Amino acid sequence: MRYDESGDRPGRQGEESVQDDPEHREEDAVVGPRAKGDATIGASIVARGLTKIYGQGADAFHALGPIDLDIRPGEFVSLIGPSGCGKSTTLLLVSGLEPYSDGSVEIDGKPLREPISDVGIVFQDHLLLEFRTAMRNVMIQQEIRGLDKATLRSRAADLFERLELTGAENRYPWQLSGGMRQRVSIARALVHDPSMLLMDEPFGALDAITRTQIRHDLEMLWLNTQKTVLFITHSIDEAVGLSDRVLVMSKSPGRIVDEIVIDLPRPRPAHLGDYPEFAGYARRIYEIFEKLGVYRFGQAGS
Ligand SMILES: Nc1ncnc2c1ncn2[C@@H]1O[C@H](COP(=O)(O)OP(=O)(O)OP(=O)(O)O)[C@@H](O)[C@H]1O
Ligand SMILES: [Mg+2]
Repeated sequence: MRYDESGDRPGRQGEESVQDDPEHREEDAVVGPRAKGDATIGASIVARGLTKIYGQGADAFHALGPIDLDIRPGEFVSLIGPSGCGKSTTLLLVSGLEPYSDGSVEIDGKPLREPISDVGIVFQDHLLLEFRTAMRNVMIQQEIRGLDKATLRSRAADLFERLELTGAENRYPWQLSGGMRQRVSIARALVHDPSMLLMDEPFGALDAITRTQIRHDLEMLWLNTQKTVLFITHSIDEAVGLSDRVLVMSKSPGRIVDEIVIDLPRPRPAHLGDYPEFAGYARRIYEIFEKLGVYRFGQAGS
């Protein structure tokens, strides 16, 4: 199903849509973004039977689902799964950038009908504009959205400080390291104070040392801002290191096959092995992947 003119999107066939559920009536719904003091706190993300089929007819390709999501306001949830299972597709569907084929999505209790603006997205590739300085890359949100310049400038300065970017404001992307470029794209995703942050393998291209540091910096930023984060990664360490919950996906077409609640104190250390529980969480994810045939490790000579 594509976005239709009325914007209505029925639930899965034979299933009651969340929209029909009196518990989820629109007038009862919390309308985001919600303000707490100066900052917006996280939105909830609820999906039922979310499915994506790219193309049509003979070219139709079932890429995702059906999957259900129940992400609470301010929660940090990771999606982990094999390449091609539909992780990026999930992110695109939840942001409204790509229409879903079946199911339903509600952001903060409101049915998703169009691309949402109350969101920050970070992709694997930083996607900064090479002809703009770091600060002007971040301030592009103010220009596009027509927001108050002084407020955004002050938020940007705060984010530069928290993300260890002080001094990089007037440098161009080509004058920054890979880690710094990714930090600038995180600042750009947060400067308009969105209620949710969608991150698609944001640290995939970074070296291990930079990844560990930026993981910690993201965790601290998240602890201080209460955004809802949906974080996509291939890295088991990163998923366990950052998340409240890890959702594990099967091979294509991806479904959620397990959910692991990560009950570790925060902020988490650089060396996650400090927690005896860490090995147990990581092993559980490896075992799921082995069972699904994602990993096929044999004996030498076999
Ligand atoms: N626009 C598109 N048209 C047709 N097929 C697509 C399109 N986008 C993605 N796909 C296919 O859908 C499947 C899921 O793609 P997706 O990018 O969501 O996977 P992923 O889990 O993010 O993979 P990776 O870990 O490699 O980034 C893949 O088989 C991909 O080829
Ligand atoms: Mg992807």
